[in-house]
Amino acid sequence: MAEYQRKDHLYNKAKEEGYRSRAAYKLLEIQKKHRLIRSGQVILDLGCYPGGWCQVAAQLGARVVGVDIRTLETFADNTISIVEGDANDPDVQAELLRLAGRKFDLVLSDMSPHLSGIEARDNVRIAELVELAFDIAFQMLRPNGIVVAKAFPCNDVEEVLQRQKKRFQKLKRTRLESTRTTSNELYVTAMLPGGAK
Ligand SMILES: C[S@@+](CC[C@H](N)C(=O)[O-])C[C@H]1O[C@@H](n2cnc3c(N)ncnc32)[C@H](O)[C@@H]1O
Repeated sequence: MAEYQRKDHLYNKAKEEGYRSRAAYKLLEIQKKHRLIRSGQVILDLGCYPGGWCQVAAQLGARVVGVDIRTLETFADNTISIVEGDANDPDVQAELLRLAGRKFDLVLSDMSPHLSGIEARDNVRIAELVELAFDIAFQMLRPNGIVVAKAFPCNDVEEVLQRQKKRFQKLKRTRLESTRTTSNELYVTAMLPGGAK
């Protein structure tokens, strides 16, 4: 990726403010818009490397369990636990729930695949990760828990989201100002029903 594109003002701001990634500002913007994170919650962070979202969620008073294929630098903050592995692996999923000790209040997914540049192939991979995030949320969220998942507009993703409407309520798509202007990413939020009315 070109340097001018990578090192924009949020990249520099993240460095100054001690966040591990510019992505931290995306979660801060989601929080400003939807107020999903509360102190005392247990939050799952799917695709957490290098850890900007973990930092933001922990600063807001949540206990965070994160997972990524990539190795994260350890956190001094003991309210953040990290599992290294593929979120699709059942053993990894069992470890995430074990570390949480109960179902999650909020499942966040910022997972992105390595893009090949071949649009049709990339759309399938993106859609698979959106589906994985929703499948994990379906298994691991408490009733009335919320899932937030990164997505990109394409037919493959749209099909996945249409299927989720049978299991989740209040499905909303949000475009963020902190997303680079060169990206068409969006974040989808939805609620797992089933709690007391
Ligand atoms: C955009 S980065 C996440 C940035 C992060 N939210 C932050 O605040 O620093 C996307 C991450 O998704 C991870 N990822 C993609 N597929 C995954 C999978 N199946 N299991 C776990 N992590 C995955 C990638 O390794 C990558 O580190």
